[in-house]
Amino acid sequence: MNINELHKGKGQKLYQKARTIIPGGTQLLGKRAEMYLPEQWPSYYSKAKGCEIWDLNGRKFTDCSMVGIGTSVLGYSDPEVNAAVIGAVRNGSMTTLNPPEEVELAELLCDLHPWAEMVRYARTGGEVMAMTVRIARAATGRDKIAFCGYHGWHDWYISSNLAEDKALDGHLLPGLEPLGVPRGLKDTMLPFRFNHLEDLQHIISEHGQSLAAIVMEPCRDEGPAPGFLESVRNLATQVGAVLIFDEVTSGWRMATSGMHMIYGVYPDLVAFGKTMSNGIAMAAVIGRAEIMDFAQRTFISSSYWTERLGPTAAIATLTKHRRENIGQYLTEVGTQVQRAWKKIALQEGLIIKVSGIPPLASFSLEYDNKPALLTLFIQEMLDRKILASDRFYANFCHKERHLKQYFKALHEVFHILSDALLKDDVEARLRGPVKHMGFKRLT
Ligand SMILES: Cc1ncc(COP(=O)(O)O)c(C=O)c1O
Repeated sequence: MNINELHKGKGQKLYQKARTIIPGGTQLLGKRAEMYLPEQWPSYYSKAKGCEIWDLNGRKFTDCSMVGIGTSVLGYSDPEVNAAVIGAVRNGSMTTLNPPEEVELAELLCDLHPWAEMVRYARTGGEVMAMTVRIARAATGRDKIAFCGYHGWHDWYISSNLAEDKALDGHLLPGLEPLGVPRGLKDTMLPFRFNHLEDLQHIISEHGQSLAAIVMEPCRDEGPAPGFLESVRNLATQVGAVLIFDEVTSGWRMATSGMHMIYGVYPDLVAFGKTMSNGIAMAAVIGRAEIMDFAQRTFISSSYWTERLGPTAAIATLTKHRRENIGQYLTEVGTQVQRAWKKIALQEGLIIKVSGIPPLASFSLEYDNKPALLTLFIQEMLDRKILASDRFYANFCHKERHLKQYFKALHEVFHILSDALLKDDVEARLRGPVKHMGFKRLT
């Protein structure tokens, strides 16, 4: 078997088959092999535990990427969450009656966010974000949304790409076309840049009276500049728009709460998703009662939002999260990783930019041929039995031995990158095509 065949493995073969019967190959853009290492990525797993994953060939990898797309801060297959969820399966996961865990979780979420008075549930981040926007439009009787950043796949959000406006660059993934999104939604979405208050002030001066909501993450690749979130809060109050923080990814990272509790700025609604239940589908909207009440005046309702595993997993996850002070641990691990990236890059003469709050760390290779260079990074890390990308989402199961393995590999791989740049042969070292950086149709 030649080296290329050896690296393909069973997972790549299955993925090629999947592409013929599942449009796009998978249900999430971020899980396409093309987003990591086309034609070489293992693609499928047989089992996962802590921060380790076994592929279909039985090869074991340490996960130093986003660890379950940012869902699993306690580590894969956490024993406490497993025990709670298996108990819920045994006692019936979906019945004619409601699971009491819904009420327990609502109390817990309001206890952790004392400004919030009511809670609704869904199962995915995109769903809860669609829910917040529907509630805001219902509560204000207005249509327009000022927004910053990524918020899922639903029409309300993707309609922002109907505008022929360069201002959207940096908010949506490059290459996303709003096909199938009603043109009637055009001009309902008004983008502003994070930490650029003047953008939002401009929107408010032109559209303040038709603004239903301001939608944003309280932090992402950078934290908020001093006073930024406070000013956004004041502007929202001034024009009567609902302030919505999307904490689908930022929540539960540095404390057992959303990041807004750390910043001390309280919106009207907050959406939580993936991270709250450690890999079991669950999502929630929390908010002020006056606004949340509109969730029963418009129609928001779905059968599987009433199943028992989601709230059960969330209670177990948040209970362990609070007891073990997971936020502090993730912050410490992320800080170590960000320091290591900077130090090793400097030693190897590689120019990188490090960003993100520590538990959601990322780096960018500051070169023109970034896609090829990043592909080479992922390929070489995979050879060293590490699933890696330009993001490292810290995890409670990232222990010293995993970090040691990661840092040793980083030394070797940053050295290879540096050498490839020097010899100008980055692409020649790739065993497959260059990775995709945004959305692309898989032909
Ligand atoms: C900030 C933010 N909002 C919404 C979403 C959508 O969540 P989901 O993929 O669960 O629908 C994501 C997913 O990455 C996200 O990061």
